[in-house]
Amino acid sequence: MSTILITGANGGIGFELSKQYLQKGWRVIATCRNLDNAKELMLLKGDLVIETLEMQSLGQINQLAQKYASDSIDILFINAGINHQMGALALDTEVDRWQEYFSTNTIGPFQMAIQFAPMVANSNKKIIVAMGSMAGSMSNEMKGSYLYRSSKAALHVVMKNLAKELHDKGIITLVMHPGRVKGPITPNNPLPVYDSVKGMINLIDHADEKMNGCFLNYLGEPMPW
Ligand SMILES: NC(=O)c1ccc[n+]([C@@H]2O[C@H](COP(=O)([O-])OP(=O)(O)OC[C@H]3O[C@@H](n4cnc5c(N)ncnc54)[C@H](OP(=O)(O)O)[C@@H]3O)[C@@H](O)[C@H]2O)c1
Repeated sequence: MSTILITGANGGIGFELSKQYLQKGWRVIATCRNLDNAKELMLLKGDLVIETLEMQSLGQINQLAQKYASDSIDILFINAGINHQMGALALDTEVDRWQEYFSTNTIGPFQMAIQFAPMVANSNKKIIVAMGSMAGSMSNEMKGSYLYRSSKAALHVVMKNLAKELHDKGIITLVMHPGRVKGPITPNNPLPVYDSVKGMINLIDHADEKMNGCFLNYLGEPMPW
């Protein structure tokens, strides 16, 4: 049986990823930082394990990795991310929260990738996906969202770099943009979460060596860094 570990699985894209992988008959290790917010996740049917994980805590990441050290994880999907200050312009930027954004969107994902790489290398598929964003692309001309955009841009660089190192272990590392997905804080986005996740799963199903170190959207189209 194949196994996927998904961070930030209690809502939005992470929840839908958990649901669709369970429907495919996979074992899903779903992480969330607060079990009180995971009631819907707990109701999903299938081979589901729920773990608590705060992405800002390197200690918790290390502990979780220790717990699964002798396991094999086919796909590590680093999905959890923070974006409270969508569109905030320079003077409205909560500068004192910058560290929180980097901890959650860049440093935690880096630590997840390197701590779980041995378990991914020990699997059949050997894939790490980090959820990037078009908002973190240097070619994006939008204004504002300094905290989110800089932390995602940093994530992109980190993952592209890691892709080279982890390739020695046979791992394919991808950065993905899920599309502009409709959700509670993005009600005006056009893309239903079901379609985004279906597209990403299809892409991952067909992942090969050529995709290592690439930045792709949910349809498999290359994104500008
Ligand atoms: N929606 C879009 O259009 C879009 C576009 C580009 C990229 N993305 C990226 O896709 C990913 C999922 O986004 P989404 O739209 O599904 O957002 P969402 O509904 O807000 O879900 C975000 C998930 O991340 C978790 N999370 C946030 N901070 C965390 C922390 N410090 N530790 C552990 N978990 C944490 C949240 O947990 P809580 O419920 O506890 O807060 C939640 O489970 C994010 O990385 C986002 O940046 C989304």
